[in-house]
Amino acid sequence: MKKYQKFSKSDYITWYNQNLSYRTKVAKDPNRLHYHLMPETGWLNDPNGLCQFHGTYHIYYQYTPFEPTGELKSWGHYTTKDFIYYENHPPVLFPDSDIDAHGVYSGSAFIKDDTLHFFYTGNIKYFDRDDYDYILSGRGSNTIHVTSKDGFTFGEKELLMTTEDYPDTISCHVRDPKIYQHNDEYYMILGARDIDSHGLILIYHSNDLKHWQYHQQLTTSTPFGYMWECPDVFMLDSQLGLICCPQGVETFGIEYENVHQCTFMQLQFDEKTNLFSMVPNTNIQLVDRGFDFYAPQTFEDETGRRILIGWMGIPEADYTNPTTKQGWQHALTLPRTLHFEHGHLYQRPLVELQALRHKKRHYDLSLLSSAKETALVYEALITFTTCESMELTLREGVTLSYQPITTLSEENPIKKQALISYDPSKPYILTLDLGTHGSGRTTRSVALSSLQNLQIFSDTSSLEIFVNDGEEVFTTRVYGQQGNISISGSYTGSLTLYDMKSYHILTQTI
Ligand code: FRU
Repeated sequence: MKKYQKFSKSDYITWYNQNLSYRTKVAKDPNRLHYHLMPETGWLNDPNGLCQFHGTYHIYYQYTPFEPTGELKSWGHYTTKDFIYYENHPPVLFPDSDIDAHGVYSGSAFIKDDTLHFFYTGNIKYFDRDDYDYILSGRGSNTIHVTSKDGFTFGEKELLMTTEDYPDTISCHVRDPKIYQHNDEYYMILGARDIDSHGLILIYHSNDLKHWQYHQQLTTSTPFGYMWECPDVFMLDSQLGLICCPQGVETFGIEYENVHQCTFMQLQFDEKTNLFSMVPNTNIQLVDRGFDFYAPQTFEDETGRRILIGWMGIPEADYTNPTTKQGWQHALTLPRTLHFEHGHLYQRPLVELQALRHKKRHYDLSLLSSAKETALVYEALITFTTCESMELTLREGVTLSYQPITTLSEENPIKKQALISYDPSKPYILTLDLGTHGSGRTTRSVALSSLQNLQIFSDTSSLEIFVNDGEEVFTTRVYGQQGNISISGSYTGSLTLYDMKSYHILTQTI
């Protein structure tokens, strides 16, 4: 496919039928994950349109099937009923019309009257002049609505708003609509960059999901990045919250070390004025501490759980993925449930994933290193009864270490960083070090008040580490497959370890 040339479902089917050898090559890559969703070929980024409809979970995602560096986006599609057995379907939305010709960008699903309403951004790039900066000019961001009765067949694309419709103070960067319902009112939340390059969200209001009116803007009291992508407003354990992805926030000590962030902020809603605002002095919480987490989306499932799935990747990072040479790149994170406790966002892996566990073993931590554990695709649950310091090897050359910040050696550059953002209520530091296995990824850290437990998901080329019942999470890709689980330091506790079975993924033939 040519760069920025529209493609339709029939182009895709023709291409698919001509590319069996590409699929075979990708499938053989030893870095393919066993229990994560990936693109069958090519590139994947944000999860889109997450929902549960008539019992079936639909997981759409930003998808460029043809090549692994992500040019023209369509919406790929997985379904599952249990998060173990999946079906991989052909894409549902293609950049095949003048309103989304340069990418069917991210969007969301909203269920009303037994109909799925999808809202997404149709990306347009103009090439007729050479002086476009693609920030204030040269780009169109269309907000588009499309419905479906089953999640597979989509109706006509309906253009709701174009770049001209957004406020004059806003740049060409407006995208990623998500719907929040309050009583019988609907609010569409869009990520945006203003003409002074400050990130914010735009909020539109509707009574019927069809007619939308500008409602308000919302941002932090002091500027926080130049663009906020993928906003998501939702009620969680009686607290209104916003997850969004601010771009261009400066690193502060061990905070905001990634090129772009994903943050959680507490909101409030005034019932009299119907206006949203930030909770005064709200803590801006990083949703994830790893190298590869961005653009998550949440939805409420039929049992009332708020489930989050993220992109296990990040745009514009200076580290890479060797899978690109094998013709594919990126994956989705494990699905997690969200909770708001002690003024903080918690993430916990979905209980359904426990069905992947097998070959259980249990160790007292004092005996772990002599057990010579070489599992690579595993889930590890570690409970500390005490922990003053420890270094846990997760696989050969990859460690998670914990100690008081003050005891880090003076030569360790992490100490200098940690002292910049030092908070006396969190005197310990937990650091993930990928050694030489990060393909450019080095270390990421978080300050903690104590370490009580760890729940670690290791797949062939990924790690997700849930700290203290999901108070903090590190999500990362990792490239080194020699198994070795061992621990040293000053602690007491135990480890329960499971090998993990693979997802069952049935790919529909077309
Ligand atoms: C976030 C993002 C979204 C956009 C999409 C395009 O990763 O940049 O803002 O809609 O990806 O693929």
